[in-house]
Amino acid sequence: MFESKNKYFGRKKGKSFVRLEQYSKFLKEPNKRLFNKIKTPRILEIGIGDGEKISEDAKLYSKINFIGCDIFADGVLRAIRNSVDDNLKNLQVFHLNIQDLLPFIPNNYLQEIRIYFPDPWPKNKHKKRRTVNQPLVKDLTKKLKKNGFVRFATDHGDYFIEALALMKKFKYTMPDISPKCWKYSDSNALHTKFEKKALDKNHKLFYFSVLKNY
Ligand SMILES: C[S@@+](CC[C@H](N)C(=O)[O-])C[C@H]1O[C@@H](n2cnc3c(N)ncnc32)[C@H](O)[C@@H]1O
Repeated sequence: MFESKNKYFGRKKGKSFVRLEQYSKFLKEPNKRLFNKIKTPRILEIGIGDGEKISEDAKLYSKINFIGCDIFADGVLRAIRNSVDDNLKNLQVFHLNIQDLLPFIPNNYLQEIRIYFPDPWPKNKHKKRRTVNQPLVKDLTKKLKKNGFVRFATDHGDYFIEALALMKKFKYTMPDISPKCWKYSDSNALHTKFEKKALDKNHKLFYFSVLKNY
């Protein structure tokens, strides 16, 4: 098993782990050769959750190569099960903290990075645990190609503002600046598990899509 030097928080296994454990034989450790073999266009999703969204996207868009990671084993194994069952050649998922995956990803490699409903850590004393922070955005920016996008969604307004400010700091631009584009709408809807949960609780949802044009 991959040894991580990075600290991470949150659930590592869930109720479906035992049922999905048989797929752990398909788990891959990252290496640079593997990443060199993945063809363009490439999308990275950080925190794939239950693994269903990335599997559906890979099924729908067979010409795009999807790379996902999560520290939660069940979702990673579910995505692997889906890729085995549906013979998805364009999906690679890793049971890893993003900080442990990044060193294997070449620079100027990704067309898009997706971070959907990252753990909010709403208490002030826990905010430093948030996945989207300055060191991460700095590293991600190197991995993103010119004209690449970062897409982000959350139901926590302060996380939205914090993440958007970081994007501004790293000179991302917003193709659409009307505040309407930040709100939930048919075109923003992602249909992830945590988006559905937030909608069920009548939470306000926030989205951004920013461009690295350098
Ligand atoms: C609130 S869930 C959202 C899952 C999914 N994106 C959705 O919208 O349903 C956040 C996910 O991020 C994962 N996660 C948290 N920190 C992470 C990290 N450093 N690297 C990779 N995944 C992480 C968690 O394990 C969890 O599955």
